[in-house]
Amino acid sequence: MTSALDPQLRATTLAPILSQMAFARDQRLQNLFARAFSASLHSFAAVLGNDIAINAYREGKLPLPDGAIIVALHYRHVPSEENNKVFGQAQSFVPGPPTNIQFMVKDSKKYAATGGWAFAQFDNGKPLTDKAMLKSCFECHQAAKDRDFVFARYAP
Ligand code: HEC
Repeated sequence: MTSALDPQLRATTLAPILSQMAFARDQRLQNLFARAFSASLHSFAAVLGNDIAINAYREGKLPLPDGAIIVALHYRHVPSEENNKVFGQAQSFVPGPPTNIQFMVKDSKKYAATGGWAFAQFDNGKPLTDKAMLKSCFECHQAAKDRDFVFARYAP
């Protein structure tokens, strides 16, 4: 079954998106470390971390150090007719069109009020500016307080 970790998919789907995003490229966000699937939103996420984040996870260091960046690339999830034909039944889903990109950037002094994290979202390259929505990021991420507000678990 196709998954976000499939190297082919990484090369064809993720690489072009990253290369379009200068800020992501500059931060060398090349490390896919987790993926999430949300049935209710019909959404599929590939979670990336920069070297600072990935190294901290590898060494089991929490909270994550300043400079850590976590990115979630979200896609619609769509049934794969091609794969389902092979399986002989409807069971395969693959990432569809991209929806949004969410960022968490760690600076424990600058963003002390929100657990040391800045939260940001881009839709079609445009930053989300809705204050209430941006406020909701940290509120909801409090649920992952014991993992430094990051839900994703490192899954190499
Ligand atoms: C209603 C709760 C909720 C809100 C609001 C929310 N998130 Fe999340 N976020 C989650 C959950 C749960 C996950 C992990 C599962 C997933 O990715 O679907 C997650 C995952 C993420 C990730 C990947 C790292 C991680 O924690 O797993 C980033 C980055 C992220 N969110 C950023 C944001 C930003 C930016 C906002 C605000 C614009 C936001 N989130 C609003 C619940 C929320």
